[in-house]
Amino acid sequence: NEEESVFRPSFHFTPKNNWMNDPNGMFYLNGTYHLYFQYYPEDIVWGPMHWGHATSKDMIVWEEQPIALKPDEKGYIFSGSAVVDSKNTSGFSEDGKTTVIAMYTYHDPKREKQGEKDYQSQAIAYSLDEGFNWTKYRKNPVIPNPGIQDFRDPKVIRDTINDQWLMVLATRDRSYFYSSQNLKDWEKISEFGETTGAHNGVWECPDFFPMKVKGSDEIKWVLIQSLNPGGYNGGSGTQYFVGDFDGTIFTPEEYMQNLDEKHSFWLDFGKDNYAGVTWSNIPQKDGRSLFIGWMSNWLYAQEVPTEKWRSTMTIARELELKKMDEKYRILSKPVRELNKYRTVIFAENKLNTGKTYTYSSEEEDLMNNEFSLNLPLDEINKLEFILSNSQNDSLKFGLNRIDHQFYINRKKSGITDFNEKFTQKTSTAPRISKSDTLKVHFILDKTSIEIFYDDGATVMSEIFFPNEPYTRFTISSNANLTIEEFEINRIELD
Ligand code: FRU
Repeated sequence: NEEESVFRPSFHFTPKNNWMNDPNGMFYLNGTYHLYFQYYPEDIVWGPMHWGHATSKDMIVWEEQPIALKPDEKGYIFSGSAVVDSKNTSGFSEDGKTTVIAMYTYHDPKREKQGEKDYQSQAIAYSLDEGFNWTKYRKNPVIPNPGIQDFRDPKVIRDTINDQWLMVLATRDRSYFYSSQNLKDWEKISEFGETTGAHNGVWECPDFFPMKVKGSDEIKWVLIQSLNPGGYNGGSGTQYFVGDFDGTIFTPEEYMQNLDEKHSFWLDFGKDNYAGVTWSNIPQKDGRSLFIGWMSNWLYAQEVPTEKWRSTMTIARELELKKMDEKYRILSKPVRELNKYRTVIFAENKLNTGKTYTYSSEEEDLMNNEFSLNLPLDEINKLEFILSNSQNDSLKFGLNRIDHQFYINRKKSGITDFNEKFTQKTSTAPRISKSDTLKVHFILDKTSIEIFYDDGATVMSEIFFPNEPYTRFTISSNANLTIEEFEINRIELD
């Protein structure tokens, strides 16, 4: 089956069949990472939402599980989160069993059709078998709709600093914060965002959590905030804010209090990383902020040329918070669990070439590979990377050093005619790092590229659909190249 071999990723999560969007309810417990997702099990386009489910020991190899939550008379099951209630604050536990609580949005299609505004509310469900079977709380909703049309995507954390359950909810043009002691009774404590950040769309799928600043003991709070449309390169995108939280009010850093639409605080500047959030209940001794996103964009997600399934998650990523030029930045990198699946197929310490260099492979394509290279920039002003095949498909990306911009151009990447918005705009991203050496690290998996420049200071993730696998990798520049620490790895799951 051509679709399976050419389009289905080999080490990223996709549902076996049908439609998927946002990641939901991610938690870790007893060695297992759980991932739920917006799922419509009857078609390859969006429909009445369920929570699909998958489990993994390492966030790389996923096993799809039976559907976790199905729509009912109160509505569809929209995005949300899950936490482990180890002290049984909710009182749902029986026989000392560990309780997992999921909080999600009910979307009532009947009230929506009737033209009412109040069709989204927040609800909970609990699981006493570590996330496989769920019971919906009979007193749902726990937060009724206050008359706001976009009122969804609750993300709960255990806030150990302020000893509370803390929830952030997206409400059209801002986020609401809520506090609870038992996960059933919620009190709204503050709001944020009306006057800062990108607003050319609806705010959705927030996440809010503390992070340690790299290389210090300082703690800052991070609000991840997706919006659609209005993303940096059009359609869906995910911005973030960094600041302090006193248990009630989030105060962003001063330079984040009046950000305009084109600000530079985006988790990923590519078109295809949306609605991503972090795992809950990661043991404190691990301490990582672990993230996954939906690798598509509402501009064209429902038309991409896969036939049995639609959409892929990003590679699981570790987020870091780092102060760069007096500003806090979120850096991302693939989780270290991926290392185990790498095999080096090419390694060079120093390659002095002319203005172009090509690596090509006759026997094996480059479609489940990871590339990393360091490029001293010296005289280089333009740097382009090209992945191509014998059908003249090519995916181009690179750096325009004069204007400090990275870009991805997928105009000729393969099948693109399913939606004109797919290629309408070359994606760009600011280069955050000022280093004289460019570090490039990217992962290819059949239909996606995830580029982590400068140790993850600028990230770009995009999807594409080549007519046949890419077999050539070319680097082209205005000046002679010195390529240092150039490594190509193959990534294979077994
Ligand atoms: C984001 C989103 C969420 C919503 C879900 C519905 O992609 O629109 O706001 O809960 O998808 O599937």
